[in-house]
Amino acid sequence: MQDTHAPFVIVAVDGGAASGKSSTSRALAKRFNLMHTDTGAHYRTVTLALLQAGIAPADTAAIETFLAGDTAPGTALGTALEGNSARLAVNGTAPADAALRTPEVNAAVSPFAAVPAVRRFLFDYQRTQPAVAAVHGFAGLIMEGRDIGSVILPDADVRVFLEADTAARAARRAAEGGVDAVAERDKRDSSRATAPLVCPQGAERIDNTHLPLGEVVEKIALLISAAQQRKS
Ligand code: DC
Repeated sequence: MQDTHAPFVIVAVDGGAASGKSSTSRALAKRFNLMHTDTGAHYRTVTLALLQAGIAPADTAAIETFLAGDTAPGTALGTALEGNSARLAVNGTAPADAALRTPEVNAAVSPFAAVPAVRRFLFDYQRTQPAVAAVHGFAGLIMEGRDIGSVILPDADVRVFLEADTAARAARRAAEGGVDAVAERDKRDSSRATAPLVCPQGAERIDNTHLPLGEVVEKIALLISAAQQRKS
């Protein structure tokens, strides 16, 4: 049972495309009453806005102008809470999940995420998330992405890196009915100059190719409980 007086914990979950980050993070968020922030959805939200504005990833000048709000009606970032899930709202609106997971967004998100201006745009916002979780009375924050334990929240109490072989990850996406070149996306995300996908120093590596979701959740739950005990 969750201890309602448990100290505030911050959990960073990193890993490649379709490595199980979201299912795992959602289950842990419920179990420990943590706020769940999916930073992949942040990059998808910005990608969707840029695609809708007709801007290509190579057009860095247009990206910078757009994100500065010079051609858009402004780009104020906020957080929309749905249960445990904290979604990025741009100018008060958080796009529906289905709109963020189309083949077009899947194909464009990684090139846009490699653009330093896009990463700078989200960086400060992402760092506000522990405070947002605390203000809303959560027992902590679980944040997933590619650079959470390495760049965004390097002092997180628990850092995990999820991995699974490429065939298993591609099969998971296909089973969800998605069109997504996971290996290509990982290659791009790992080789970019700014905040590449890496296993953060000191993170627990969990290969879930043959491990069911429930067992991955139990492993990380033990790490979270241990962190709570350390901090109490
Ligand atoms: O987790 P996801 O597949 O929804 O992420 C979509 C893309 O966003 C991913 O290919 C790379 C980018 N991303 C990133 O660069 N940094 C993060 N912290 C999260 C996602």
